[in-house]
Amino acid sequence: MEVIIRPDEAAASHLVARLIARELRARPQLVLGLATGRTMEHVYEHLCRFHREEGLDFSLCRTFNLDEYIGLSPDDRQSYRFYMNERLFNRVNIDLRNTHLPNGLAVDLKAECQHYEDLIRDCGGIDLQLLGIGRSGHIGFNEPLSALRSRTRDKALTPDTIEQNAPMFGGDISRVPRRAITMGVGTIMESERCIVLATGASKAKIVAQAVEGPITSMITASALQLHGRCTVVVDEPAAAKLKGTEYYRWIFDNEPGWQEFR
Ligand code: F6R
Repeated sequence: MEVIIRPDEAAASHLVARLIARELRARPQLVLGLATGRTMEHVYEHLCRFHREEGLDFSLCRTFNLDEYIGLSPDDRQSYRFYMNERLFNRVNIDLRNTHLPNGLAVDLKAECQHYEDLIRDCGGIDLQLLGIGRSGHIGFNEPLSALRSRTRDKALTPDTIEQNAPMFGGDISRVPRRAITMGVGTIMESERCIVLATGASKAKIVAQAVEGPITSMITASALQLHGRCTVVVDEPAAAKLKGTEYYRWIFDNEPGWQEFR
């Protein structure tokens, strides 16, 4: 794992977008794992701009989102399909048939989850998985006590997550779905590379626990310590409770691979 600290949210999300763009230029058929949520909005803004201004090409790219609410249709404004179409897919030259999210309306959820796993496998696995961290320490919707080897499945959301996501439902907690389909921790861990983005003071405590604390299913993001290639990008407020910041900055300043991003 490596930790990159950027001065503010704008710089952190810009760096993540540049990392994705570099991978996509190097491998036009990239299989990209995507996340939703407030943090990612800025990343998608940058990617749309790279497409507009620099011709970043998504035509061969395939995508798999981490999760989708159960019970919301794709054209529900609060569904993650709607979020992705609005913020990225409809604004770049991606083929919508190459974009995948779990079907939150599936009658047979077990079959839908297996189908999603099969699709990922048939595409050769995820090359680059983008991740946020929830206040509960989740990646995807892998809430506390999710098995660290779990696969795509339906999952109940914690009260904390429901509260965190309520602003997207007009602040009305009763409107937030109680369940979602999510890739499992095991599914995420099989991605070739993971990039985590966390910004803002509200994430400082959970970032420190995930990065520097013990690996525990109580904080599923901590499983990423076992991942072979995971980059955690944070802004200064989200880095505030990390103990090793001096060392992380030293690596970023000295590692040749980061030269173009300094
Ligand atoms: C969303 C997802 C979640 C979010 C996390 C952070 O697809 O998988 O794990 O990344 O809840 O959400 P924000 O960015 O809204 O704080």
